[in-house]
Amino acid sequence: MARLVIVSNRVPIPKARGASAGGLAVALRDLLMPGTMWFGWSGRLVSEPAPQPAIVEARGVTYATVDLTAEAHRGFYVGFANGALWPLLHFRLGLMHFRREDYQGYLSVNQSFAGSLAPLLQPDDTVWAHDYHLIPFARMLREEGFDGRLGFFLHVPFVPPSMLEAMPVARELVADLCAYDLVGFQTEEHARDFRDCAQRLLGARVDGEWIRLDGRRVRAFADPIGIDAQSFAQEAERAASDKLVQRVAGSLSGRALAIGVDRMDYSKGLPHRFEAFGRLLEKHPEHKRAIHFLQICPRSREEVDEYRKLRVELDRLAGRINGRHSDFDWTPLRYSTRAAPRSTLAGLYRIGRIGLVTPLRDGMNLVAKEFVAAQPDEDPGVLVLSQFAGAAQELTEALIVNPFDPDAIADAMHQGLTMPAPERRERHMALKEKVMRTTAQAYCRRFIDALQATSFTRVAA
Ligand code: F6P
Repeated sequence: MARLVIVSNRVPIPKARGASAGGLAVALRDLLMPGTMWFGWSGRLVSEPAPQPAIVEARGVTYATVDLTAEAHRGFYVGFANGALWPLLHFRLGLMHFRREDYQGYLSVNQSFAGSLAPLLQPDDTVWAHDYHLIPFARMLREEGFDGRLGFFLHVPFVPPSMLEAMPVARELVADLCAYDLVGFQTEEHARDFRDCAQRLLGARVDGEWIRLDGRRVRAFADPIGIDAQSFAQEAERAASDKLVQRVAGSLSGRALAIGVDRMDYSKGLPHRFEAFGRLLEKHPEHKRAIHFLQICPRSREEVDEYRKLRVELDRLAGRINGRHSDFDWTPLRYSTRAAPRSTLAGLYRIGRIGLVTPLRDGMNLVAKEFVAAQPDEDPGVLVLSQFAGAAQELTEALIVNPFDPDAIADAMHQGLTMPAPERRERHMALKEKVMRTTAQAYCRRFIDALQATSFTRVAA
């Protein structure tokens, strides 16, 4: 196979601080064989970026990164990617702040990424770009003369045409996505919405998964991402000896643990979830003193106003719920903005009686899959899952809820807390079978195979 070049905003250079690609690095681990290259932002802001990418080799993989100026980062990442595209793609038009200068900044950073990567490429390389930061990247890399296969995967949701049209540069974005040979989405619904956008906004012809435009064709398909379920399950078992997991387990004093783990992001539905927990204690007072809800939500993107506002709101809500329901020796809601290592999270999921995954909108949500993989088969917990997470398309045996309805979440928590063991086991086994089957490895293989198969689509439109 030709060399694979992965491109993403963040790059998981082993041991580099501030440059982690988090879940992406885990999802793509199987592809990181010697000879592979990973290109993107170094995580550093400098006043004068070096003219050439910095190269680091680790275990045969080449990591090539570029620095950004604070100004470029502001327009590209804070302004357009996270101030406009992120809210739009999460169905939050009211939070979308579009500014032309941010879009220009977004284009410039993509242009400089393409300009920096092009000289490092060989003609038969296969390039796989990730996520909404890199929509115009393929067009720009083509303009730099690269003629190999170019794939793109969108980790977040996609919206229907009626919503995308609110974005002033919607046509440019859809046209730029069509410059890739293959575009992958988390669910069939998102892939279909994208094809509909190409048809309505660009007048493209759609034939099944194929979009025909300007004498070429691009395939838009669903390739749901997964986790390395086997190793996560083992990690969860091993984590029984993790000090923090032991401390949390001990502090429960036999009470049930409901657990949520999310980046602090308005798409995750955290205020509704906090509200729901308060409702549970009001509507079903038998759970008072019998449950702890632990919400771990590491702070995120604090350069963006909406994220700072969310933090203030969660602080207020947590105070209100605990003020109202606590006892002198029982605090119902534990809320921490500290990040925890993956192995500790695995152990915490394992002792969770309820996993709360209630985003208002989410591409996939791997916490849902991790919670399932971590559960003990003989006495499993129950997953409460938003109908608007991509994971709900697959994990239908979870308790599926509308995340905008705190009462529905509260009722599902009650149902989970009172569910007889045989039903918990039956649901869990069905969920686990799916999580074990739709793994990260399967996701990568499907994408790479589909990308290899697009070899001549650019000339045979
Ligand atoms: O969900 C999309 C995503 O890009 C994830 O892949 C990633 O873990 C997360 O957002 C992190 O965002 P950021 O790079 O802005 O911190």
